[in-house]
Amino acid sequence: MLSEIKIKEYKEKSAELVSLVLTDRQLCDIELIMNGGFSPLNGFMNKADYDSVLNNMRLANGEVWPMPIMLDVDHDFIESNSIKAGSEIALREKEGFLVGIITVSDVWSPDKKMEAEAVFKSTDTFHPGVNNLFTKTKDVYIGGEVLAIQNPKHYDYSLLRHSPMELKEQFDKMGWEKIVAFQTRNPMHRAHKEIAYRAAMDVGANLLIHPVVGQTKPGDIDHFTRVRCYQKILNYYPEGTTMLSLLPLSMRMGGPREALWHGLIRKNYGCTHIVIGRDHAGPGKDQSGKDFYGPYEAQDLLKSFSDEIGIDMVEFKMMVYVEDKAEYMSIDSVPEGMKTLNISGTDLRHRLENDLDIPEWFTYSEIADELKKAYPSKENQGFTLFFSGLSGSGKSTIANGLKVKLQEHGKRSVTLLDGDIVRTHLSSELGFSKEHRDLNITRIGFVASEITKNGGIALCAPIAPYESARNQNRDLISQHGNYIEIYISTPLSTCERRDTKGLYAMAKQGKIKGLTGVDDPYEAPKNPDLEIDTTDITEEEAIQKIMLYLEKEGYLK
Ligand code: PPS
Repeated sequence: MLSEIKIKEYKEKSAELVSLVLTDRQLCDIELIMNGGFSPLNGFMNKADYDSVLNNMRLANGEVWPMPIMLDVDHDFIESNSIKAGSEIALREKEGFLVGIITVSDVWSPDKKMEAEAVFKSTDTFHPGVNNLFTKTKDVYIGGEVLAIQNPKHYDYSLLRHSPMELKEQFDKMGWEKIVAFQTRNPMHRAHKEIAYRAAMDVGANLLIHPVVGQTKPGDIDHFTRVRCYQKILNYYPEGTTMLSLLPLSMRMGGPREALWHGLIRKNYGCTHIVIGRDHAGPGKDQSGKDFYGPYEAQDLLKSFSDEIGIDMVEFKMMVYVEDKAEYMSIDSVPEGMKTLNISGTDLRHRLENDLDIPEWFTYSEIADELKKAYPSKENQGFTLFFSGLSGSGKSTIANGLKVKLQEHGKRSVTLLDGDIVRTHLSSELGFSKEHRDLNITRIGFVASEITKNGGIALCAPIAPYESARNQNRDLISQHGNYIEIYISTPLSTCERRDTKGLYAMAKQGKIKGLTGVDDPYEAPKNPDLEIDTTDITEEEAIQKIMLYLEKEGYLK
């Protein structure tokens, strides 16, 4: 990296350059380009390297490299800034912090279908790598060398982060010559601990636990929880034999190609061996329920390249717990007739969320405790109740009453985001066009997602007439907790008869335009979790229905 004076010079120079704010994935990529984790890459790939990597898993000069690494941007960025070969772009973090400067060599629009076929052997969007390519990766690629200015900032676990050079120095200091890397994106349980330990024993090496803390598979456990688990499992290895270091990689879940890539990266970090188990970096099942790759395809590919790239593979079959022997064994060496035990990821999650027992043979109790914090039982999770219905349908009345009932219950904080209140504060400048209504709804969704994330209850009661905006909220909120949609289906005739605010009369007289249900659309929810028509029931009855639903689903105890 550069001296302070040089950094200052480049910061000044960069003020005159076009800036690009990097995405989380690009930040991971650039960090590994700049620190040598992606050696021999010294920038984002040019078109010749890209073509060659897709076709031959090699850079244009013949060196092995299986994963395309380009800077993706949108057309607009290219056109509005006249980006072409020779342009310099300042690459920044979200806060504006200068990370590097790229000198553009190539700009091209890729054929993404072809890329998906070549890299992932599939165009099925159930594959997280394909999905990312088709839905998140921008349409134009930029290649070019990167001038490294400053590493992206990390405030978390800084003592556990090492560049390849720093890690090699540590190995030298400790006198470690043979090092087995254990790659993981999951918490480590006893089976993983055994695999890594035996791998190191088998080749007479020390062990590097080298988990990925960049982007992993959607739905994975957050890295904060995982790192706390890794720190705890370190205590179960003989002292001085094992080290933990965090890798800021953004995974592509590319199975065999990814395994080869992981091998190259670990070689760059000074490791002599890497553990590759069953279905390494597996992307899950495709749309028809089949695996994308064979269980040992990743091992086969890395094995065929390991001499050339200079890292050996320690292969492992699945580990299972053999109850009769009270120990872990490789599945292919379990004596016939002996009972084996295993807990799948889904089963583990179910146990955590329902406060069920997690056996000591499966994981150490300190690790189970960490995971319980990450997966609180339903009664301790936050949730959003999202009401939708016409003006006068009863949303606000029910939401207000429910708020009090939930406060009486008292376990979580309750926030009411009623349509009228939101429009007085959060959305005071908005009108009732489709665009403004959608903006209003997604603002409510954002606030509700923050409340839900922090374990509270958000009650939202806008009209929310459009399905797409409601679905956007469902997607956002479901990432942090539970989203429950309640359709207040009171028909227009009843709402007009009630006309509590006089809006329907005004619409009839032509005094207001665009009233939902009268001369503006209302797209009724197709699959609400609950539907309530208030025409013939009291508000107390409506509230009771919701309370019963929450109890039945385990949100209230
Ligand atoms: S939206 O579509 O979800 O953004 O609407 P919302 O924010 O819930 O609307 C809040 C209240 O605005 C009043 N109002 C109208 N509603 C619909 N269409 C038009 N043109 C309109 N003009 C004013 C209405 O009283 C809404 O409150 P509720 O509680 O639903 O009656």
